[in-house]
Amino acid sequence: MNPPFLEVKGITKSFGGLHAVSDVSFTLKRDEVVGLIGPNGAGKTTLLRLITGILKPDSGTIKFKGKRITGLKIWDIVNLGIAGTFQNMRPFRRLPIIANVMVSCLSPRAMKRGEWVKRIEAKAMDALEFSGISDMALEKASTLSQGDLKRLEIARAVATEPELLLLDEPFGGLSPAETELMAKSVKRLHKGGRFGRLHSEGPAMVIIEHKLQQLMKIADRIIVLNYGTIVTDCSPQEVVVNKDVIECYLGEGGT
Ligand SMILES: Nc1ncnc2c1ncn2[C@@H]1O[C@H](COP(=O)(O)OP(=O)(O)OP(=O)(O)O)[C@@H](O)[C@H]1O
Ligand SMILES: [Mg+2]
Repeated sequence: MNPPFLEVKGITKSFGGLHAVSDVSFTLKRDEVVGLIGPNGAGKTTLLRLITGILKPDSGTIKFKGKRITGLKIWDIVNLGIAGTFQNMRPFRRLPIIANVMVSCLSPRAMKRGEWVKRIEAKAMDALEFSGISDMALEKASTLSQGDLKRLEIARAVATEPELLLLDEPFGGLSPAETELMAKSVKRLHKGGRFGRLHSEGPAMVIIEHKLQQLMKIADRIIVLNYGTIVTDCSPQEVVVNKDVIECYLGEGGT
């Protein structure tokens, strides 16, 4: 039997005395989109940072396609095919927008097919078109609004051609119309096929979002986190009627 595509097993991370993520386990299939929701401070971002290798867990293991990735360097994890976007956006502000994305295209993973600068530029442009800011490609990244910075982050992650894409609040800072567009793009990316020359098979995804209505349209499955532990792991239809979820999350004014 094939190992799970992603297997998170008994992952725990504390900051001082605070258990940000406690004994979290779940698996993800190659073709799945999982929504990760929960109140502020639930541990969602921490969990994503543990998967990408930005944080090291106190205990537990993470395996990607059967290979243990806990303890690997971020760069090695990207090269295995995992990329993410983060709440704190950190572009190279003094470089043009397109150069920010070209840096992602230069990862050995993206380079291994023997491409060079022109093709890399075209690829970066595809990623910018995907996220909707290709018309600004030559502007400095420092000129971008918060919403457009988010788009740049997504373009940078997508340009590494991940098999697993982790998105931390991709709709944060976007207007309702922009959110709608971004949701469509994310769905299209997952379905694979047409996205410039990139991605014949779309990536599996874990998406953290507070905009639940939009998330429910994209996700096959929802994991609800509260106080660092999984409250439930079920379908989007089940989650909206789950008593524990309503109590811990929707009861606090979620959308
Ligand atoms: N680097 C850190 N140092 C200390 N505490 C941290 C650190 N990162 C996160 N925390 C704490 O861990 C807990 C979980 O934080 P996390 O950012 O994972 O929550 P979240 O579910 O992403 O919340 P939000 O919806 O507000 O983004 C919070 O109490 C937070 O203050
Ligand atoms: Mg967060």
